[in-house]
Amino acid sequence: MVLSPAFRREFALTVTTSTTGTSAAAPRATAPRATATTVAAASTSADTADAECAACSRAPLPVLGRDVRVPLVTGGEVGYAALDYAASAPALQRVWDDVAAYAPYYGSVHRGAGYLSQLSTDLFEQSRETVAEFLGCRPDDELIFTRSTTDSLNLLASALPAGTRVYVFDTEHHAALLPWQRADRAQVEYLPAPRTPEQAVASLDVALHGAPKGPKLVCVTGASNVTGEIWPVRELAAAAHRHGARIVLDAAQLAPHHPVDITALDVDWVALSGHKLYAPFGAGVLAGRADWLREAEPYLAGGGATRKVARSGDALSVEWHSGTARHEAGSPNVIGAYAIASACKALTEAGFDSLVTRERELLARLRDGLAEIPEVRVLSLFGAGSARVGVLSFVVRGWNSSHFAAALSAEYGIGVRDGLFCAHPLVRTLLDTEPDEPGECGAPDAAPGERSLNAVRVSFGAGTPQEHVERFLGAVRTLVRDGAAWRYRTEEGRCVPVR
Ligand SMILES: Cc1ncc(COP(=O)(O)O)c(C=O)c1O
Repeated sequence: MVLSPAFRREFALTVTTSTTGTSAAAPRATAPRATATTVAAASTSADTADAECAACSRAPLPVLGRDVRVPLVTGGEVGYAALDYAASAPALQRVWDDVAAYAPYYGSVHRGAGYLSQLSTDLFEQSRETVAEFLGCRPDDELIFTRSTTDSLNLLASALPAGTRVYVFDTEHHAALLPWQRADRAQVEYLPAPRTPEQAVASLDVALHGAPKGPKLVCVTGASNVTGEIWPVRELAAAAHRHGARIVLDAAQLAPHHPVDITALDVDWVALSGHKLYAPFGAGVLAGRADWLREAEPYLAGGGATRKVARSGDALSVEWHSGTARHEAGSPNVIGAYAIASACKALTEAGFDSLVTRERELLARLRDGLAEIPEVRVLSLFGAGSARVGVLSFVVRGWNSSHFAAALSAEYGIGVRDGLFCAHPLVRTLLDTEPDEPGECGAPDAAPGERSLNAVRVSFGAGTPQEHVERFLGAVRTLVRDGAAWRYRTEEGRCVPVR
């Protein structure tokens, strides 16, 4: 890509940021990419050891909100323990600093002659290249900035060729489960929950083996937002391709924890969300094969997607763009795109090898701690030994999960999530409950003693200190042993402390 003189000049400017002393415009060398196979060889050098994190090989990455204190219902206040990364992760300090340093230079993208418009356009396109590199895109791939994973998968659903058969496990997040049935002229086959990664591959193999000719798409998650279990993406991609199908990877939960490489995994598309990748500025990504996207109707009709619009009689004739602009109608979210690019650089420079190692150590600590509490049942599809990211759901015998999560927040300042996690069929399978039993946020007034129809989810990532995991385990132990110290009731579907 040819950078404008404006962009080149700003690169020379020193835009010093508050805490890290980095520059918004100064290019940083991209560290070598980690790969799944190098994970085992992660560094444990003593000079990176974190004094506060005895079990971890290195310090957490600086994130916003690490000094926030919250009131406790029982009196006093405590540092907030954010253990709901799977919903939305806190912004990396580096991302925040980069965005703040760029903010004065903010301008329109692809539609302004001014200096800041040129600079912003170049920053947007440069961000596209950075994220494409982070995802290991092939030379002919397209990377479209969207609003989120949900948006990305809906975009792909809108671009399916007529008659596409879609194969999706019923364990998927609703964002990956639902868009296909709305797609014009697509037929969807829902595959039952597999109980091992091998069973997942075998089940897809069988389904595709009997499939009629014509376009086929498989949609699969990289890591479950309920169990944190990692799916056998490479093997599923191989099975899909063996039968002439394409595959899209929902990397919403995998990308924040693990390297995702389109080429190495041999998937056709990847979708992810910035707000789960430490870049909460309203952008997401769909990256992958260009052909279906080029041939599809534009996802949104409007400015930016059009090459030429002319009135002829009562009608309008429209010539649409063919590249990424085709599906990026409207003013692009340059801050969101730049934030994702900044997060990609930050994670790459931190090194996935050590991030993965650190996360595994925290996860082991969490799982060992919960295993010592007999009342706790950790939910799992693939069994105890399966590979996972830092996402774990559980139920506690004798507790309604909404009540348990409310007590963790109100009495301990710990933020987790409760419910069915937008993956209703999967959680119902794991809890062995029926679809007509209310599960989402169903905290009864007298909550303890109820059979739990939903679960508690604890999730963490690169910014989590070990103290948060220890405090969480301590709180679970105390709640199970002594019960809640406060009374709770249901208000508008949420379990809240009685005031
Ligand atoms: C696995 C998975 N896929 C897709 C999504 C949807 O992401 P978003 O809400 O950012 O569109 C989520 C959100 O939790 C998720 O966990």
